[in-house]
Amino acid sequence: MTPSSLGVAVIGAGMAGRSHAQAYRSASTVFGTGLPPIRLVAIADINTDFATRTAARYGFERAETSWQAIVDSPDIDAVSIVVGNFLHREIAEALLAAGKHVPCEKPLAPSADDARAMVAAAEQADRVAATGFSYRRSPAVAAVREQIAGGAIGEVLHFNGRYWCDYGADPQAPMSWRYTGGPGSGALCDIGSHIIDLAEFLCGPIADVRGSQLPILITDRPKPLGAAVGHAAGVAVSDEREAVTNEDLATFTVRFAGGAAGTFSVSRVALGHPNGLAFEVFGQNGAAAFDLARNSEFSFIDRQIPAATNGYRTVLTNPEHPYIAGGLAMGFPGVGHGGQEFFTYQARAFLEEIVGLKETPWCASFADGLHNLVVEEAVVASHAAGGAAVAAS
Ligand SMILES: NC(=O)c1ccc[n+]([C@@H]2O[C@H](COP(=O)([O-])OP(=O)(O)OC[C@H]3O[C@@H](n4cnc5c(N)ncnc54)[C@H](O)[C@@H]3O)[C@@H](O)[C@H]2O)c1
Repeated sequence: MTPSSLGVAVIGAGMAGRSHAQAYRSASTVFGTGLPPIRLVAIADINTDFATRTAARYGFERAETSWQAIVDSPDIDAVSIVVGNFLHREIAEALLAAGKHVPCEKPLAPSADDARAMVAAAEQADRVAATGFSYRRSPAVAAVREQIAGGAIGEVLHFNGRYWCDYGADPQAPMSWRYTGGPGSGALCDIGSHIIDLAEFLCGPIADVRGSQLPILITDRPKPLGAAVGHAAGVAVSDEREAVTNEDLATFTVRFAGGAAGTFSVSRVALGHPNGLAFEVFGQNGAAAFDLARNSEFSFIDRQIPAATNGYRTVLTNPEHPYIAGGLAMGFPGVGHGGQEFFTYQARAFLEEIVGLKETPWCASFADGLHNLVVEEAVVASHAAGGAAVAAS
């Protein structure tokens, strides 16, 4: 039975927490009218100022300074976990035990073992438990997926993906939770988790990983002098420095179960690329390419056009593609969209799953989040084994 309303909350009012808050606010404005009223109940953050300002800005009823207050609130049905990865498991287990539905940000946990415990907790609680692979909700990425699944490029031969960011390129960029945790917990899990998920979203499961490198290129960073969100740009720093314990760069190759090859490059020190996610998929009869810097388009080539005038063509997302019709207030070609829409469509899908609607594809599950970590642990194991092949299962 559809509940008369759903109360939602967000734990973590940092960079991505604000995107979740805005997404809950917008979820009922896209697609059908079938969702019950969404009550924007609470934002929780240990930083009182972040919690209060985020609750006020996005129209939530109250701010809390402890996540336990959210667990104990009977007026809240669903809670986004959007804090540092090392906190995900403890918070998810408590929320699920209290009967809340939970979308948790990627990477699902610091380790596959933690993620396994979270999958078990979700099964026991019988609640919706989602992992935040928001880039699946890009209309252009989803359009490429439809073309591949429909056979438009034939058998996939090669996926090449990169996620290059420059948030760590400056050695004076302050220390944060992102720079600690050991091999794999750096660029690989922080941003590589997205491109690995997209590779499998488009090309099917990864069978094994080989040839990994995980270098730490900037070995220490200054302590921040104040509270900061996201990549802490502009925060004053101390003269005292702390050791970085995870990788700035991850490169590796994979073999997909379907036989295709995959090549990956992930960096947080790629100066000039603030958020450079891009991929190219080559098939026997065609190819497709996407670059997040040109969010609402993709490139496509096939053999349908005579060679004399053939070449990659730019396709602007339009109502023939997923998410555009009903997902944008002005859903005609060329209007464009931003990354925030991905979070809105993800929140919408999560709320739909709670009430049993299916107007949009449901979210990646905790089991998908676990699988993603298994692939990342295979990347780390390949590195430890001098680049040898390691099964991703
Ligand atoms: N899907 C995406 O595109 C995307 C983008 C960015 C981040 N993320 C993920 O979101 C999560 C958060 O990343 P971020 O960049 O927003 O981090 P952040 O550092 O900007 O924000 C984290 C927030 O958590 C708060 N916090 C810390 N300890 C807390 C506690 N015990 N209780 C309540 N609040 C606490 C901090 O004060 C801070 O405001 C991570 O898992 C990250 O991987 C996902």
